[in-house]
Amino acid sequence: MIVPIELSQTQSITYDITIDSLPKLSFNRKVVVVTNPTVSSLHLKKLLEHIDATKLHIVTIPDGEKYKTLNTVETILNECFAHKLDRKSLLIAFGGGVIGDMTGFTASLYQRGIDFIQIPTTLLSQVDASVGGKTGVNTDYGKNLIGAFYQPKAVYIDPEFLKTLPKREFAAGVAEIVKMAVMFDKSYFEFLKNANLKDDRILKDAIRRSVELKAWVVNQDEKEAGIRAVLNYGHTFGHVVENETNYTTYLHGEAVAIGMVMANALAVELELFNAEDAKEVKLLLEKFELPTEYKIKNVDEFYEHFFLDKKSANNSIKFILPDGMGEYKIISDIDEVIVKKVLLEFGDTK
Ligand SMILES: NC(=O)c1ccc[n+]([C@@H]2O[C@H](COP(=O)([O-])OP(=O)(O)OC[C@H]3O[C@@H](n4cnc5c(N)ncnc54)[C@H](O)[C@@H]3O)[C@@H](O)[C@H]2O)c1
Repeated sequence: MIVPIELSQTQSITYDITIDSLPKLSFNRKVVVVTNPTVSSLHLKKLLEHIDATKLHIVTIPDGEKYKTLNTVETILNECFAHKLDRKSLLIAFGGGVIGDMTGFTASLYQRGIDFIQIPTTLLSQVDASVGGKTGVNTDYGKNLIGAFYQPKAVYIDPEFLKTLPKREFAAGVAEIVKMAVMFDKSYFEFLKNANLKDDRILKDAIRRSVELKAWVVNQDEKEAGIRAVLNYGHTFGHVVENETNYTTYLHGEAVAIGMVMANALAVELELFNAEDAKEVKLLLEKFELPTEYKIKNVDEFYEHFFLDKKSANNSIKFILPDGMGEYKIISDIDEVIVKKVLLEFGDTK
C-alpha cells in the first residue's frame, strides 16, 4: 500500500509512504539511525535485520518530549560529525513523533541538509507526525517554535511496531485519526464508528486513510498558508488544556480529544454543527477511551491563554470548526462573548 506525496508548490519533491511490513532496505551510503532506549530495546533488532548499509551507526537519545531541544539536536549533529557522515549520508528516524521531528530537523541542518527517512513507531507518528515534513524542537518560549519544513525521502509505516505501544499512547494516536475524519471525510467517520482497531486489517485501513488525507492536505499546502491549518482542529483548545495542566496530566492526543469536544460545542453554538453530530464525536472518542471532559476553572484565563498559541496571528484567534460532518470552516472573528459562553459550559461553576 503506497501513498504518493507530490508537493504542488515544489514539484521536485516527491516521496512514497509505504504502509506495510517493513521491507528490506539497502543503502549504498553511511546511515545513522536515531532512536531512544524504549524503542531500541523493543524493536532495534528487527530494524537491523531489515537494513543493509555501507556503514551503520545507532544514536540513542533520551526518551521524552522534554528532550526535544536544540541541545539534543546538537548531540545528534556531533554524532554525525564523529561518524564522518558526508552529504550523501542518510539519517533514519526510528521512534515516535519526538524522534521524527528532531531527526528531520537535524537532517535539515547537517551540512545544509542531508537525506532522512521516517520509520515511525507510534500511532500518532504513523498517522500524522511522520507525514508532511514539519520538523523541529521546543524552546522555553513554546513548543515546536524552532524548526524547518524538510521532507523525508521516504516513510515506512509498519503497524506491527504498534503492538508494544502502551494503551494510552495508542488512544492518543486515535484522536488524530478522529480529527482527520471529522474535518475531511464523513464516510471515514462512519467507518470509525464501527471499527475495531485491534484488528490488524482494520487498523491498517484506518492508518492508510489518515495518511492519504494528510498527504492530500500537505500536497496542497506544504507551509501551512491555508488548508494545512485545518489539522489544528481541536488543538487551539487542546493546547490551553495542556498548558493549564503543565503538560503532565494529558498526552497531547488526549488534550486534542478534549479540544475537539470544545471546538464542537462552539460549532454547535454557531449552528455550523448539529448537537447530534457533536455527541457522535464525543461517543467515538470515548469508545477509544479518550478523555472528553475538562473543568475550566477560570473562563477568562482560559480565553487569554488562546493568545499564547503561535497560531493566534495578529491577536485574533483562528478557530478550526466542523461545518457539518467531514467539512471544516476556519473562522477568525468570533465574538469573545460567544466563545466565553461556550467555555462556561465547561466551567467549574456554570
Ligand atoms: N511533525 C508533525 O507534523 C507533527 C505532528 C503531530 C505531532 N508532532 C510531534 O510529535 C510528538 C509526539 O509524538 P508521539 O506521540 O509519537 O510521542 P513520542 O515520540 O514521545 O512517543 C511516545 C512514547 O512512546 C514510546 N514508543 C515509541 N514507539 C513505541 C513502540 N512501538 N512501543 C512502545 N513504546 C513506544 C516513546 O519512546 C515515547 O515514550 C510531539 O513532539 C509533537 O509535537 C509532530
